[in-house]
Amino acid sequence: MRPLLRAATDTILNPAADRAAIRSAVFELHELFSTIGGVREDHGRPELDRDAWLAGGMAVSPLLAARCLTEVYRTAQFLRGVYAAIGAAMQRFPGQRLQILYPGCGPFATLLLPLTSQFGPEQIEITLIEAQPQSVQSVRRLIDALGLDAWFAAVVQGDALDYRHPPGQPLHMLVLEVMQGALAREPQAALTLHLLPQLAPGGILVPQKIVVDACLTSQAREDFATLERRDATGFPVDHSNLARQRIPLGRLLELSSDSAAGCGSNGHAGRWPPVTVAVPSRPAEENQFMLLTTVHIFGDVVIRDYESEVSHPVILYDLNSVASGAEIEFTYATGSKPGFRYTVAESRP
Ligand SMILES: C[S@@+](CC[C@H](N)C(=O)[O-])C[C@H]1O[C@@H](n2cnc3c(N)ncnc32)[C@H](O)[C@@H]1O
Repeated sequence: MRPLLRAATDTILNPAADRAAIRSAVFELHELFSTIGGVREDHGRPELDRDAWLAGGMAVSPLLAARCLTEVYRTAQFLRGVYAAIGAAMQRFPGQRLQILYPGCGPFATLLLPLTSQFGPEQIEITLIEAQPQSVQSVRRLIDALGLDAWFAAVVQGDALDYRHPPGQPLHMLVLEVMQGALAREPQAALTLHLLPQLAPGGILVPQKIVVDACLTSQAREDFATLERRDATGFPVDHSNLARQRIPLGRLLELSSDSAAGCGSNGHAGRWPPVTVAVPSRPAEENQFMLLTTVHIFGDVVIRDYESEVSHPVILYDLNSVASGAEIEFTYATGSKPGFRYTVAESRP
């Protein structure tokens, strides 16, 4: 089974591999992991379908988290980004066995387990944290069946918002994909705020930066242009022409090492500084208020709007008809229902 893991990961990381080959490799991983771990679509076990709500937001069901693997482009981009980040961390911390924390690993530890085929256990040591017990069971089975014990320090079952890294063991990397578009519902921001202060100086956060921008756009133009979002291989169709036609309203949030450091570690119920956007004079056809998410995974590895569920645009329907001249104050809040809150001020005369 390890040769299969190696071959599939080599293909996904190979910049010259074609999209069809990458798709096959991703689905081979899914077949291998779901068969061993037991989180399968044909499960017949209701507990695999249950989301859980925790202090920091939603922990998606084991089945939903497993499906993330089959989002071909998302998985390929994250694996490439994490691979590059490990390379960078090795240069930053030469000769050290890198300690990597991966909270919200889901049932397959998708963003790191395949990379055990690329780095030796003397180079990386991974700690997994996962709230859903069935996902923990699955990932433990995978580590066992694939003989990967030497790469893993621990698989912790619980809420990552309670996690404290053992003192005296420098934490070199933090890998997090616990998110949806506009950082709604899931605890990516809260986990970043809680865990970032536990990183060693110079430690690397992946994704390096997530930004959410507001814009006005045309519903008809967006819908028409995105009728086809993925090609037959699961890769996104190019929509960069859309970006040029939207009316940008401003950046609502940036989540990175720098911005999170300024927010302190109040991950359970933090509020970010409010941001006000002014609605300019708008043509009638620019009738949709949208939040766009861009995930800068590492270096030049990026996922943009429409390219994945993690960056899927969010339409704020109740702002679609907001008047020109209005000012809208946005505040991002962590807590059990993470997401943006907003209020519209009176239009200026
Ligand atoms: C969107 S899934 C992604 C899984 C995996 N990281 C991937 O990229 O394929 C997010 C995972 O984070 C877990 N999770 C959410 N909140 C958590 C928390 N506070 N502590 C630990 N795990 C959490 C969920 O149960 C789910 O398995």
